[in-house]
Amino acid sequence: MIFVTGGTGLVGSHVLLKLSQQGNNFRALKRSSSSLKICQKVFSYYNEIELFEKISWVEGDINDIGSLEDAIQGCTMVLHCAAIVSFSPYDVDLMKKVNTEGTANVVNVALDAGVQKIGYVSSIATLGTTKNNTIINESCDFKFTKNISNYSITKYFAEQEVWRAAAEGIDVIIINPSVILGPGDWQKGSSQIFEKIYNGLNFYSTGSTGYVDVVDVADILVQLLFSSAKNERYIVNGINLKYQDCFNKIAEAMSKPKARIKVTPFLKEVAWRIEALRSFVTGKSPLITRETANSAMSSKAYDSKKIKSFLSFEFTDFDDTIRKYVSWFLADQE
Ligand SMILES: NC(=O)c1ccc[n+]([C@@H]2O[C@H](COP(=O)([O-])OP(=O)(O)OC[C@H]3O[C@@H](n4cnc5c(N)ncnc54)[C@H](OP(=O)(O)O)[C@@H]3O)[C@@H](O)[C@H]2O)c1
Repeated sequence: MIFVTGGTGLVGSHVLLKLSQQGNNFRALKRSSSSLKICQKVFSYYNEIELFEKISWVEGDINDIGSLEDAIQGCTMVLHCAAIVSFSPYDVDLMKKVNTEGTANVVNVALDAGVQKIGYVSSIATLGTTKNNTIINESCDFKFTKNISNYSITKYFAEQEVWRAAAEGIDVIIINPSVILGPGDWQKGSSQIFEKIYNGLNFYSTGSTGYVDVVDVADILVQLLFSSAKNERYIVNGINLKYQDCFNKIAEAMSKPKARIKVTPFLKEVAWRIEALRSFVTGKSPLITRETANSAMSSKAYDSKKIKSFLSFEFTDFDDTIRKYVSWFLADQE
């Protein structure tokens, strides 16, 4: 039996879909406040609503050890996908609590329950950079730098908790996905890139990063769980692209105008400060923060050779990813 956290979110719902399609036995954690709408929608995009109805949900919270102990009972494997993905300064304490402390709880309860293998969804945010700005691979260790995000720090410490599980005898595999594209809540997390462009995104930055299809992330995580891999981490990245090129491809697929205004370093500094002020006055989450503004200006590229060669994995073609999710996004607007 596999215990899955985060099944109501973007990655977790695709992991549940994959496990269901393969006929695996699993139990999925949901909070008392969780909505099953995104997960149900994800299963319906793939015409698998009957499989959604069969999901065995268990109520709990990764910050409530008692509920975790009940939920994990009888499970030999864990896929830990739950986290808070945020770059808002208001979410720092919540991220420490959920991402780092929550992962420590999952590890401790798994150790007590005799779990044999944990698959953990980390992030490229926990990787360091290279000296000459060359392509980043799994050996690039995390560094505390001036512009490091709080999300990165909490995910880095969470990854350390998973390595502790390995030191204490559980087999672990860690995946480090880049920006994940997929159909989740179009107003939240990485899925909102589609909505932002649909509503007219006039600005583009000079930076670049990696992107990956959520289906590939779920597929790789499940394959690794059942593979001989242990105590390894793998970058999961389909393509490295300039932000501008990614945004243009999505805009083009939506028949929307491309972003025209280039964000200069000066404009960046002005923009996040104005947003911080607007957020303070209105009490609403800032659209740009110092962290997102800095990361949008940096150019990074990620090497996925390790996972490609271990699983002989072919990532989904990026244009196919965009075409598929744009068509689902547009259908949802009707
Ligand atoms: N999205 C990306 O681009 C990206 C890139 C790299 C890595 N990642 C990693 O991928 C994982 C999944 O991200 P995502 O994009 O799928 O996020 P998401 O859509 O926001 O889903 C987050 C999930 O975590 C659950 N959760 C939050 N706090 C919890 C708690 N205290 N107890 C139990 N469950 C809790 C949420 O449950 P509720 O429904 O109750 O809120 C939801 O199921 C995360 O570890 C993230 O760091 C994401």
